[in-house]
Amino acid sequence: MTKAAWLEVNYCLFLHRGRQGGILLRYPEELIDRIAKQTDLVGLVKQYVDLKRVGVSWRGLCPFHAEKTPSFYVHPEKGSFYCFGCGEGGGPFKFLMMINGLSFPDAVRELAGRVSIDLPALSHEKVPTLDGRPLKTVLYEVMDKAQEFYRHNLWADGGKHARQYLTDERGLDPQVIKHFGLGLALDSWDSLLRYLGGLKYSDRTMEAAGLVKPRSSGAKGFYDAFRDRLMIPVADPENRVVALAGRTFGKSDNPDSPKYINSPATDIYIKGRILYGLHQARPHVRAGGLIFLVEGYFDLISLVSAGVKPVAAVMGTALTPYQLSSIRSMAKEVHLVFDSDRAGEEATKRALPLLYNAELNGRVIRLPAGHDPDSFIRQFGPNAFFDLADKAADIADYYVSRLVKSPQTTLTGESYLVSQAAEILAQVPDGAKSQYLRNKLAEKLGISKDHLEIKGGPPKHLGPPPTATRLPTGPDFDPMAARLLKHVITHPESAPTLKPDLKEIWPDDRTKPVFEAIVLQLEQTSVLVPERLRFDDDAQMASLISGASASGRLHDAQESVMLAQNLIIKLKSQYSRKVQKELTQAVREAENAGDQELARRLLAGKLG
Ligand code: GTP
Ligand code: MN
Repeated sequence: MTKAAWLEVNYCLFLHRGRQGGILLRYPEELIDRIAKQTDLVGLVKQYVDLKRVGVSWRGLCPFHAEKTPSFYVHPEKGSFYCFGCGEGGGPFKFLMMINGLSFPDAVRELAGRVSIDLPALSHEKVPTLDGRPLKTVLYEVMDKAQEFYRHNLWADGGKHARQYLTDERGLDPQVIKHFGLGLALDSWDSLLRYLGGLKYSDRTMEAAGLVKPRSSGAKGFYDAFRDRLMIPVADPENRVVALAGRTFGKSDNPDSPKYINSPATDIYIKGRILYGLHQARPHVRAGGLIFLVEGYFDLISLVSAGVKPVAAVMGTALTPYQLSSIRSMAKEVHLVFDSDRAGEEATKRALPLLYNAELNGRVIRLPAGHDPDSFIRQFGPNAFFDLADKAADIADYYVSRLVKSPQTTLTGESYLVSQAAEILAQVPDGAKSQYLRNKLAEKLGISKDHLEIKGGPPKHLGPPPTATRLPTGPDFDPMAARLLKHVITHPESAPTLKPDLKEIWPDDRTKPVFEAIVLQLEQTSVLVPERLRFDDDAQMASLISGASASGRLHDAQESVMLAQNLIIKLKSQYSRKVQKELTQAVREAENAGDQELARRLLAGKLG
């Protein structure tokens, strides 16, 4: 084998190793070339970056590093992008991999779908299908049709009462209602079922999309999941409808039915990944480097309708590291605008370690008692809102002030507060910000910061002291992967939540078989029993696992999931940096070997 051929094989091996267990199987070269050629790179990049035309190329602010003057260029003819500020560059696949944290095969599949090129299934890989077509394609399509149907209902004659609710009671203009694609689910058990059936979608498809539910035992058939509700479409970063939320209104708004019914998790909707409204907010967020995060759909709609544009909503669940990672390339600063109630306060406090880990500056906008962003903006208007934003406290200051004022502050409460402070410090990475937080905490609690430091670490009631947490990482174990493994093993009940992530990480080290075994267990039995992870013939591995089990629980389940998600994000970006380094190296070697053709192919073909 020539050196060049060896390089190419090796490089492809590298690209596919993580996902496909070291077997060399890939999409045909010409297919990849064809997808890249047919992709409108400028159009693709424009979904994430505001581009202005300069001569034959397009220029904008780099999404991969923070900058004030644009040095990020897209060359449509070459089909490549390059940033003179940070040196990132490549083609369409590389762009998608980096901006969405995708693997190479996923980026290929994504772009193939956009340019309507059918990909053959890789032989080792089963692409799930539904009614003979790729599952995800069918789901995106049926969600889109459902959304269209709901939107039609709202503007048809039968939608008058719903339109009246939106305009009169919620104060929304028709343009705003249209902008957000709001719709109406009729007061009927089967109107969507019949509509989609008429378009030849099967019940199975509708069920897989979470649009219909099977009738209770005995009876055959399905019924509409959303009835007599206002419908809010939830889009992914590519602006595809992946979920729907239905809100009660008018006569359906009674204490017996939940205010919101949301789509279940499906193959195109992983809960906790998406921020509602982010797609429309993107250019505004990028322009100011700042985003307002609210809790509810209507908080967001109201703010946007009043002219506060850079805003996204967490949709009533706890903020996740994934949601933060989706805004990191656009914003440096996050203003939390949660409700002025206890739950809002808790949510704000829980956001602190997440923001620190995502290296985002957090500020807290405090609304007058009894208000949420929706009611506030409607009563006081956008200027009052921006005034509050100017006065927003740093999240560390907010945290410290809330910590001291919490009702637990009793005579015996002091040690509780110290342990709370230590706990939060244990969750934030070292750095200037954590120093600031530490100083503030020490100052408020009236103790020396060294005291806080030494007494710190995980509080006693949550598990054994930190010494027990040190893992036998060994030279071959990536410490981040080992930490992730510890979270999964000590909180097996959370493993199903993490499963989609665990399937997608590629720790490039010896922990890989353990993660594969974990995913396999979850797929076979839906639960993880760590004792069944047996690596008896690999002493290091066995001790890694037993060490993880022995380390005990240091966090509650929710925290553990958050920290695990943080690690997953870091592992993924570490992987994509590594891929990039390998590519650069491979190209350089090809050039040194005088093989310009291979160098060109590596740059243009594989990674775009
Ligand atoms: P309005 O009450 O109409 O102003 O709606 P809102 O969207 O502002 O809702 P609210 O502030 O009460 O709640 C915030 C978010 O929590 C909502 O947007 C939903 O995502 C979620 N949520 C609220 N109520 C429910 C519920 O009954 N079920 C579910 N699954 N989620 C809910
Ligand atoms: Mn509200």
